[in-house]
Parts: sequence; structure tokens; C-alpha cells
Amino acid sequence: MGNFKGKDILHGNQFSKKDIDTLIKNASYFEKELKKKKSLNLLKGKILATLFFEPSTRTRLSFEAAMQRLGGGVISMGSVESSSVAKGETLVDTVRTVSQYADVIVVRHPRLGSAKEAADATPIPVINAGDGAGQHPTQALLDIYTIHKELGSLKNLTISLVGDLKNGRTVHALVELLSLFQSKLYFVSPGLLRMPEEITANLKGKGMKIVETEDMMEAADASDLVYMTRVQKERFSDLSEYERVKGSLIIDGEFLKRLKKKITILHPLPRVDEIRPDVDPYPGAAYFRQVRNGVFVRMALLAMVLGRIP
Ligand code: CP
Repeated sequence: MGNFKGKDILHGNQFSKKDIDTLIKNASYFEKELKKKKSLNLLKGKILATLFFEPSTRTRLSFEAAMQRLGGGVISMGSVESSSVAKGETLVDTVRTVSQYADVIVVRHPRLGSAKEAADATPIPVINAGDGAGQHPTQALLDIYTIHKELGSLKNLTISLVGDLKNGRTVHALVELLSLFQSKLYFVSPGLLRMPEEITANLKGKGMKIVETEDMMEAADASDLVYMTRVQKERFSDLSEYERVKGSLIIDGEFLKRLKKKITILHPLPRVDEIRPDVDPYPGAAYFRQVRNGVFVRMALLAMVLGRIP
């Protein structure tokens, strides 16, 4: 991808290893700066617009916090019901309108491909905050930053991705980034929630070692890191199928006691019951540290796409 200035952030496959190095360096810089002072002036005069057509806590608030920590302003569409979307306005017209007010747009929408549609409707940068069961590239970037911080490296890692690999847009984006570092991956899910075949085939085509299994203990014992995900109830058209698979893969205190070695546990959150609260005090339970890293990574991304840092 090279220089991020003016670019849309739509898919995990758009980044090179060098892009990841640059992003980690810049996010790490902002992490250190925020320890010294509460806010910076780098994006003073710039405006971020957040358009969320689906619920969010972390992605929207961390983007808004990141922009404000950089001295920029934020405007938000608010809920779908309180905007003109409720009157039937299209995504394209909403984006065209908001482009008249803002310098960068962050969009989350339930439809696969919607972020690209939004990006094609405006000359200003659009950042994909989740398009249906498609991609969530900024979550993947903060996951990579967290893995680098927690494990000290991105090379030669064995990582288990667990849960709803079919519908989980965070894992769809993360595997694209992990493929740059030739990690060995375990895909752990019930049969109904397997990673889409085209994604697995594409990764294998890049030479990645992938093991598909339903045995989470075997995978965790072989891994440096376990990335848990929620079963995405909102993506099921048949709720009886959801009832059949929910709660099939759970990490709790008993599971940790049976592990052969210490591991790191990440989760994009929100969790339902796949990581029980008795796991939270475990030193390797890094999911709330992961949440915090989202602010530093999104500060770096905003500063880069707005051309204020290389
Ligand atoms: N990880 C994540 O996307 O969380 P939110 O749905 O709360 O934004």
C-alpha cells in the first residue's frame, strides 16, 4: 500500500509487511506520547465522521477517542433511527452528504461490500469498521499490534483462531495480516462455523500451514496465542442453528488448569460466554489490554490517512 495519505482502509489484504512495521512504529509513538500528555494537536482542524449502521462500543468510541486525543473533531450520525436513513436515504447518498462536512469517514454496515460502495461514493478516505461478515481491517491492525506487544515478535508464531470463523469479520481480516508472517494457524470451530473455503484455500496458496479441528485443547496446547471469537447470532437466518452451536467452545478456569503451558488469550469483544469471567485474572488474558491498544492504532491510522505523518 505504501503511503497511507488519502487512502481508503477496506480490507486486510491491502497491507504489506512494511505497512505493518510503519503502523506499529507510529502506534507505539502515540502510546508513549499519551503517557506524557492527554492530548496532541496533530489533527487540529480535521473532522472525523462516524457512520454506524450496526451496534458498536469499542470501534466507534475508540475512533472518536483517537480523533479527540489528536486534537481533531468528531461528528456522528448516531443511531440509524435518528438519521435520515430511517426515511429511506441510501448509503451512497448518506456518504456523499457527510463528505461535505468531514475529512475522513468511518463506516460500519451489515452488508458485505458496503465499505467499498461507500469509498467509491466519495473522494475522502473511508475506513471500514466492519461490513457484514466481510472484513474489519482496523480490528486486525490492533490485534497485530497487540500480538507484537504481548509476544515481542510476529515471526514463527502458532496461533489458534477459535469460534465463529464463518461469520467473524475480525478473523477474516486478521488471517490476511498473519499470512505476511507465515504463522502456523489452527482453525478451531464447529463444522457449521468453519472458515470459508476460499479464505482457507487462499492462505494455503500463500504457503501457510493450517490445521482445521474441533479440539480446542489440542490446538491451544500447540499454540502461543488463542484468539477467541463470539458466535455471531445476528448473522444466522435460522436461530435453531445458532442454538445448536452456541456455547460449544468455551475457555474457563478449568480449561486453563489443564493447559500444558502459559498462553496469551485475545478476543475482539464483545464476549457472550466463550471466555468466562474466571479467566480474566490469568496473566495471559490480554483482551482488555487489546481494547486499549485500539486507541493508539486508530490514532496512527487517522494521522496517516490524513497525511500528517508518513
Ligand atoms: N471489536 C469490535 O468490533 O467491537 P464493537 O462491536 O464493540 O465495535
